[in-house]
Amino acid sequence: MPASLISIICPMTTAHIIDGNALAATVREQLAEHAAKLRQQGVSPCLAVILVGEDPASAVYVRNKVQACEKADIRSLKDVYAADVDPATVMRRIAELNADPSVHGILVQLPLPPQFDSDAVLEAIAPAKDVDGFHAENVGALMQGMPRFIPCTPYGVMKMLDAAGVPLKGAEAVIVGRSNIVGKPMAMLLLAAGCTVTVCHSQTRDLAFHTRRADILVAAVGRPRMITGEMIKPGATVIDVGINRLPAAEGGKLCGDVDFASASQVAGFITPVPGGVGPMTITMLLANTIEAAERSL
Ligand code: GUN
Repeated sequence: MPASLISIICPMTTAHIIDGNALAATVREQLAEHAAKLRQQGVSPCLAVILVGEDPASAVYVRNKVQACEKADIRSLKDVYAADVDPATVMRRIAELNADPSVHGILVQLPLPPQFDSDAVLEAIAPAKDVDGFHAENVGALMQGMPRFIPCTPYGVMKMLDAAGVPLKGAEAVIVGRSNIVGKPMAMLLLAAGCTVTVCHSQTRDLAFHTRRADILVAAVGRPRMITGEMIKPGATVIDVGINRLPAAEGGKLCGDVDFASASQVAGFITPVPGGVGPMTITMLLANTIEAAERSL
């Protein structure tokens, strides 16, 4: 069969790629202007990052966050504790950082080792310095539609949807994953933007039934290539929040929760991994830190 006929019988759409690196660079330029203005006013924006334990993925995330601060001329402090540290030591450090007026943002990298009550740690961070947006006060403000700090990953996703011109009012949005870090705040933001939102999770009975209805599909489950092309509505916008490392036998590369090869044949817009949501998450952390510094004036 001639190739031209194949494409008529079986039209293959190839999605537009939403380039997270390019958008991150643009947003970071805008942030640099804000940072310069702050310095003119005698304020040097500063983020404090706390890492507990030796989880390799967390160590990489923290290193990337600190490096991003350096590049953006944002001061950073990094405290690293052994996995068996007494939680009281970390709580004392958070109290010090809360009281230090030269520190504008505080982030405790999650997950924490089992001796920690993670909720208590997040509640110990001053809400005005909670640049992750995980403190109950900030979660509540987001739920009420009056966000103070928007969690960085869903914030980055909203920027990507905006930059790609994806219509949100009245759209069917389906989120796969119900974490406090991504799924739940993502649902709040899409709801506030006028989407009809469905949140799917590990107990959802027929996942594909839901995903196939989505105009906007956000995958945030942490399972490599779980969302395949046949689970996607033609022309949908697919946002891949997953960052999974494949086993060495499969090449050891990074991949998302979406099977890019099949999904990109069906979707209208898609984010790649790496180079999609990841760079935007760190960028929005910088944005929240600058915002915290501006509010401190
Ligand atoms: N662990 C995975 N994602 C995040 C995040 O956005 N913030 C923090 N603090 N920990 C994380």
